[in-house]
Amino acid sequence: MNIRKAVIPVAGKGTRFLPATKQIPKEMIPIINIPMIHYSVMEAVKSGIEQLVFVTSTGKESIENYFDRNMELEGFLEKNGKLKELELIKDIGTKIEVITVRQKEQLGLGHAINCSRSVIGNEAFAVILGDDLVLSEEPVTKQLAKISAQNDNKSVIGVMEVPNSETFRYGIVDGDFLSSDARTLHMKAMIEKPLPENAPTNLATPGRYILTPEIFDCLDRIPRGVGGEYQLTDAINMLAAQDKVYANIFTGDRFDTGNIEGYLNATVEFALRDEATKEMMINIIKDKVSKYGI
Ligand code: G1P
Repeated sequence: MNIRKAVIPVAGKGTRFLPATKQIPKEMIPIINIPMIHYSVMEAVKSGIEQLVFVTSTGKESIENYFDRNMELEGFLEKNGKLKELELIKDIGTKIEVITVRQKEQLGLGHAINCSRSVIGNEAFAVILGDDLVLSEEPVTKQLAKISAQNDNKSVIGVMEVPNSETFRYGIVDGDFLSSDARTLHMKAMIEKPLPENAPTNLATPGRYILTPEIFDCLDRIPRGVGGEYQLTDAINMLAAQDKVYANIFTGDRFDTGNIEGYLNATVEFALRDEATKEMMINIIKDKVSKYGI
């Protein structure tokens, strides 16, 4: 079954990026010249997603505008012969249908996903968390959709190995590897942010999921979890007790842009990966190394 819809929660306050996030949604902060949210949306587009649901809150209107066309700017660029620039902005608003739903109270990721229920309806869908960017030849969401299609269209959680000391930052899965696929597990349980001593594995999700619509009933039933919030992880754990759920170790390089250090790392790395900025970044780094005697 094709996965046609994806939910991207963007209602968070982005306090780690204050003061910028006093006025700019965290998701609109760019890595060089591309807003972070653009990467998540491109992942969705390249994965065959046709309809995107942004779960938003007040102050996030610029995200919706960014994925609309700006005819005035397009006209200006065209008139002034800035065709390269025109190319850059034209595509953004035409590739995908965007629907926004509001999360009126910040009650956690599980609550945010539950806000998309009426738009998603009765079909399997993807969830993409924008704090983690994954660069890979085949987009992660597409990798997970394929695993779902190979396994009875069931839910699939994208996971990666993390150091044991970092399990407390993530949803961690437990399960048994399939004999037919060394990168896919039949999931037994999922635990939100366990301390290393309580973590059953070091397989963590950076926020990539394919979920069957039964998740919504689980979201309705879970109590508040870690941090007093309704956790998506707890709903997935409940789903795994009543239906088959899989986890897949995806391929790709993941960047945690939810904090300043990860953001700096991604900025340098993305500049080095792009031919247009590679030389610039190498020269800047060389200069800084000699200037600061690193
Ligand atoms: C959320 C999820 C967690 C997941 C993480 C990925 O946590 O609850 O399971 O591993 O995103 O970034 P948050 O980082 O929002 O606290």
